[in-house]
Amino acid sequence: MLDVRLFDADRASDADWDALHELQFSACRLDSPERPPMTRQETIFGVRAPQIQAGEQLVWTAHRDDRLVARAIVTLPGDGNEQLALVRLHVHPDVRRQGIGTEFFRALEPMLRARGRTRAEGWNLTPGGPGESWAQRLGFRIVHTAVLQIMELSEVDRRRWDIAVPAGYRLMRWVGAAPESLVSAYAKARAAIGDAPLGKSEFGAPDWSVDRVRRIEASYRERGIEHRTVVAVSSAGEVVGLTELEARPLLPERLHQGDTAVLAAHRGRGLGLAMKSEMLRWFTTDRPRVAQIWTGTGAANTHMIAVNHRLGFATVRTGSVVSREL
Ligand SMILES: CC(C)(COP(=O)(O)OP(=O)(O)OC[C@H]1O[C@@H](n2cnc3c(N)ncnc32)[C@H](O)[C@@H]1OP(=O)(O)O)[C@@H](O)C(=O)NCCC(=O)NCCS
Repeated sequence: MLDVRLFDADRASDADWDALHELQFSACRLDSPERPPMTRQETIFGVRAPQIQAGEQLVWTAHRDDRLVARAIVTLPGDGNEQLALVRLHVHPDVRRQGIGTEFFRALEPMLRARGRTRAEGWNLTPGGPGESWAQRLGFRIVHTAVLQIMELSEVDRRRWDIAVPAGYRLMRWVGAAPESLVSAYAKARAAIGDAPLGKSEFGAPDWSVDRVRRIEASYRERGIEHRTVVAVSSAGEVVGLTELEARPLLPERLHQGDTAVLAAHRGRGLGLAMKSEMLRWFTTDRPRVAQIWTGTGAANTHMIAVNHRLGFATVRTGSVVSREL
């Protein structure tokens, strides 16, 4: 019988963090050997200051005989995705194939339904790996494939980022809050991410509004995350594209890419490449200690993947997305 608890970051002891990190480190080494090993800072940050734009996050742990044997990080998105619970469930490698993953998921189900969620999706499962078999046994279907891309700054020739801005556009940039004069055009442009391929995942582009933009900016501020934006502005003064990159406290050696999107009428003109190049030059000049940049996108998103390769990213991992009604 599993003892399932909500993990309370404010009350967790050093021993609780140690156990959580040991589980995540061991699982990551086994399940995602392509990515750099999980650090303790990453464990702490992942719980304390999760992916800000994804929504509220809860962490549950499962214990057997008082030993931590599994944990689930669950994101509850808002702004149009209120039916979904995004679940990342890992069982400690020492105790797999003993029914723990199944029992844990079944214990989570009513708690997710109680929070109004009717569908669960799991992201970043190893194709052909244990997660897919386990999920399919529970009735999940594979609905999408995504890739993780990493740029090693020590290896990249930064001349790749010397990209001219296409004629008829100018770039603007800010740290933190969007200027009042642009925020409503910026909120409108953010909807362009809705065209990114997500397969049959039910996750849709959030409903963007000035209110959502300002709420997200406030969350970044509260958590001490430096969030930078570069936008492309047309000669008519319309925001037609954007890219975001963030620096998380506790992880000074790494930057994380957010959305990059260009409005449909302005695609194919090199704006994505120009905005991302500007961002890379700007952020890495200000933060010389950064060693890596991480980004993720759909495996079918050939244009984004090609832009990233041109800038110096390498594709390091492919992960499946599974989905099932709750
Ligand atoms: C997927 C995972 C959670 C399964 O946890 P677990 O406790 O080992 O799974 P269970 O013991 O409940 O397995 C139930 C059934 O799933 C299937 N399954 C689980 N692991 C499997 C594997 N390695 N190979 C093939 N089938 C597997 C089997 O049908 C199994 O039943 P059986 O043992 O009677 O054959 C665990 O392997 C893990 O943490 N993987 C990495 C993270 C991940 O992929 N999470 C998935 C969802 S977010």
